[in-house]
Amino acid sequence: MKVLVVGGGGREHALIRKIKESKKVSEIACCPGNGGISYDAKCYPVSATDTDGVVNLAKEIKADFVVVAPDDPLVAGMVDALNEAGFAAFGPKANAAVIEGSKVFSKNLMLKYNIPTAEYKVFDNAEDAIAYVRDKNEFPTVIKADGLALGKGVIIPETFEEAEAGIKEIMQDKIFGESGNNIVVEEFLTGPEVSVLAFTDGNCIKPMVSSMDHKRALDGDKGLNTGGMGTVSPNPYYTEDIAAECMEKIFIPTINAMNAEGRTFKGCLYFGLMLTPKGPKVIEYNCRFGDPETQVVLPRLKTDIMDIFEAINNETLSELNIEWSDDAAACVVIASGGYPKSYPKGLEITGLENGQRDGVIVYHAGTAMDGNSLVTSGGRVLGVTALGTDLLEALNKSYSAVEKIDFENKHFRKDIGQKALNAVKDL
Ligand code: AMP
Ligand code: GLY
Repeated sequence: MKVLVVGGGGREHALIRKIKESKKVSEIACCPGNGGISYDAKCYPVSATDTDGVVNLAKEIKADFVVVAPDDPLVAGMVDALNEAGFAAFGPKANAAVIEGSKVFSKNLMLKYNIPTAEYKVFDNAEDAIAYVRDKNEFPTVIKADGLALGKGVIIPETFEEAEAGIKEIMQDKIFGESGNNIVVEEFLTGPEVSVLAFTDGNCIKPMVSSMDHKRALDGDKGLNTGGMGTVSPNPYYTEDIAAECMEKIFIPTINAMNAEGRTFKGCLYFGLMLTPKGPKVIEYNCRFGDPETQVVLPRLKTDIMDIFEAINNETLSELNIEWSDDAAACVVIASGGYPKSYPKGLEITGLENGQRDGVIVYHAGTAMDGNSLVTSGGRVLGVTALGTDLLEALNKSYSAVEKIDFENKHFRKDIGQKALNAVKDL
């Protein structure tokens, strides 16, 4: 098979490395890809959000299967367009991707079908939202732009003044554009967070191994929110009992709810969960693989990923046994100094040979080729994943490689996995 992967970050690199292991695959293409991905796939300069461009590329290279990884093309209907053009594709259609594309949709879905989530109210104008927050007078509170906002559409104000300013920025200044036409104001929940990605063909749902993201830029969960600075898998808080409870109260009800709404979800459904004192609740749904969760989950997958993608496409997922390794995995992200604000690009990266290093898997997120050398080209530059018999071993391997990979002003968190290690001791 010739497989085309749409996207160009660390998550797409992790998908490509796994697809490369498939006995069914002879060739992998990627658009747009990046410098490091070009060692593993032929990269084409077509933007991941250019639906017509991707359909034309699939025709030109005669792709047998297309994997659409990022949220925006899924929400915009790229899988619909590929299917209409006769291509088999992995990912939900637009009418199901709305589960990530609109927080108002997903919150209303959970309320209607009794799926545990934070209490909330929806607003379509700033005055009413501000009046509500003032009257309620409970802080911190949580304010979410309805639509996609590059993962930055959630603010957690500690005071009324902060909340008022945030609401105005989203709804009046439109810092996230049309995504801020509506907002959700919701109850602030507490508890450990767990990411669970799940394969589903709409009939059957098979959760992957659990993981934990580290979203803040600095150690100790300080600093600004980022796309994710590192991940570990498994997540020690996600015990077998909690997994069973989530299956019964969240995962199955969600796919049933989507079917009942005539929006069957096929692909990877991401559950961002919080394990609150009142039980697990959904913080967010994503309609795709998480980034950088994929970088610790897929290395543990033993089953041929193309068998899974085809089973989802043919709606025969229930017949497939999916196997995982017992290893622990850790991914430490190396970012450009300054990220998530502004940062320089084009800095030479040293310590890699053909984009990789022995003992770890280096997933490239923001790299480009400059002649024969690899240079930085994004905020998150690399994700360095290692496997180990336990989390400590995986973390040690990953960090020892991270120390030896270099570019000017590189930034990484020194405490990835620390919370998980402490939890293992406490539980
Ligand atoms: P999201 O973009 O929806 O993943 O939200 C970003 C982060 O905000 C989450 O990972 C949580 O840490 C936090 N968050 C979102 N919703 C809530 C909530 N209702 N209560 C507490 N924290 C939240
Ligand atoms: N790591 C969080 C996300 O992919 O949205």
